[in-house]
Amino acid sequence: MSLMEVLNAVDKLDPSLRQRMREFYETSETYKRLLDHHNSAYLQTFVNLVNSYAPPQSQLLEVGCGNGVASRMLADRGHQIVGTDISPLFLAETKVWETDRLTYQVADALDLPFPDQYFDLVCSNELVEHVPDVQSVLQEMIRVTRDGGRIVVAGPNLCSPITSLLDWIRLLTGGTGRPIWAETKAQAFQGLQRNLRYYLQKRLNPEPNFIFREPDLEDQIIGGDADSVYVASTIDLEKFFQQRGLTIIKLSVGFGLKGKIVATLCPRLSPHISMVVQK
Ligand SMILES: C[S@@+](CC[C@H](N)C(=O)[O-])C[C@H]1O[C@@H](n2cnc3c(N)ncnc32)[C@H](O)[C@@H]1O
Repeated sequence: MSLMEVLNAVDKLDPSLRQRMREFYETSETYKRLLDHHNSAYLQTFVNLVNSYAPPQSQLLEVGCGNGVASRMLADRGHQIVGTDISPLFLAETKVWETDRLTYQVADALDLPFPDQYFDLVCSNELVEHVPDVQSVLQEMIRVTRDGGRIVVAGPNLCSPITSLLDWIRLLTGGTGRPIWAETKAQAFQGLQRNLRYYLQKRLNPEPNFIFREPDLEDQIIGGDADSVYVASTIDLEKFFQQRGLTIIKLSVGFGLKGKIVATLCPRLSPHISMVVQK
């Protein structure tokens, strides 16, 4: 099996993909059930990160908020927030949570229905890897952020060699693999080689190099980021924001003691993207 087969990387995205993904998120009951696991415990680190970089009583936007729990938690911290998602299905239960500080709106991240410079802080958790036009989404996030405001992007660093190394060690020591990414020792080793190569290429290339894959939108096997389309990388986002004149405040904060050490010593290798930038 070649490296490309393990990742399913594609040179060119199918033009119908954007519409197919929209339909998938609008209708997938299985995905909605997976989002039930994204409860307040799961979302705590993301909410803490956003809250620590938002001035008190900020005007916030969450893009791709899924079941809306993180937005509700941020409203509970005293912020004014709009939670948006492309899927009316995922937002179905949120109406009852709305208050004068918290509202929800169906909106495509590619075309946010807000004026320029409207928000103090715009955030997303586990969104960017699910959008085929990720550069346009990041541009929209920049547009609706006020000058001096902040953007927080969190989610998996799908190009992290550390994630691949851990996959490989786990499989070598008799543990289980990760569906889609590394189900066998050979796949895990190839994933490690691939992510090391990506890391070096991305570090050396002055331009961001967004890599895409064909997402798996089969309802029965979703989970584990099978539906991801952008092979998310801290380095791409860093370069993209810097090229547009934004300042990187934090590349990665890391979770737990080991995560914090990795995020401090080598933030671009960290398995998690937890980036804070200032406009
Ligand atoms: C993995 S879920 C994360 C949900 C939530 N942020 C969380 O952490 O629980 C990805 C979310 O991105 C949303 N999404 C995908 N494409 C989108 C788009 N173009 N615009 C807005 N939301 C989108 C999906 O509907 C889904 O709710």
